[in-house]
Amino acid sequence: MNAGDSEHNLFGGNHYATGFRAASRRRAVTPMSLKLYNDAMKDLGIRVAEPRDIRELAAMRHHLWPAASAAEHTRDLTPLLSGNPKGNLPAVVFLAETSEGRITGFIEVGSRSHADGCDPAMPVGFIEGWFVKPDWRRKGIAARLLAEAEQWARNLGCREMASDTWINNLESQEVHAALGFEVVDRCVHYRKSL
Ligand SMILES: CC(C)(COP(=O)(O)OP(=O)(O)OC[C@H]1O[C@@H](n2cnc3c(N)ncnc32)[C@H](O)[C@@H]1OP(=O)(O)O)[C@@H](O)C(=O)NCCC(=O)NCCS
Repeated sequence: MNAGDSEHNLFGGNHYATGFRAASRRRAVTPMSLKLYNDAMKDLGIRVAEPRDIRELAAMRHHLWPAASAAEHTRDLTPLLSGNPKGNLPAVVFLAETSEGRITGFIEVGSRSHADGCDPAMPVGFIEGWFVKPDWRRKGIAARLLAEAEQWARNLGCREMASDTWINNLESQEVHAALGFEVVDRCVHYRKSL
């Protein structure tokens, strides 16, 4: 998705992640920075987003879908976070959060009556949005968020999970493939004014 170059300015600069990058370079690591990072990851929890999370979530959503402003995302999120998703089909947002209350990413999952390539007789879980802040990527957070979303869908009786992404978002395609999704279709969307 269109996660832009400003990602680090927007979301960067937490000391756990900095510690991890240093750890990755080996020579720069200090025992304390690695311990802080490990503690943060060990205690990273996944929870359902609530109305109090709206500002943080709107900012992450705006980053993922920049065509809408943070204010528009806030408007969209209000019913969802209050447990009244549009369309009356179940939907929820899960957040990844450190023990210090630092939000590191989200997954928005809904139930759809059908999805391309899935059994039309059964509702499916659908990933509507999926985002991890840049400094926290490649640490398994998206995988943990997905596992939670999948369990949520299973609990609703779904037997399949579906998703989509842009053709040029190769990173997202790699993540989907790594986490068990198969490609079922490729589309070109059109419009014309009437
Ligand atoms: C896609 C996104 C949510 C993945 O988050 P993440 O927490 O970094 O993903 P994970 O660490 O759980 O990665 C799980 C696996 O996916 C694969 N993967 C993750 N990032 C990858 C990348 N940049 N390139 C190739 N494979 C990647 C790896 O196999 C990884 O497992 P590994 O690290 O053990 O090798 C994150 O990159 C993001 O927010 N991107 C911008 C927004 C976006 O594109 N969202 C998805 C749209 S549907």
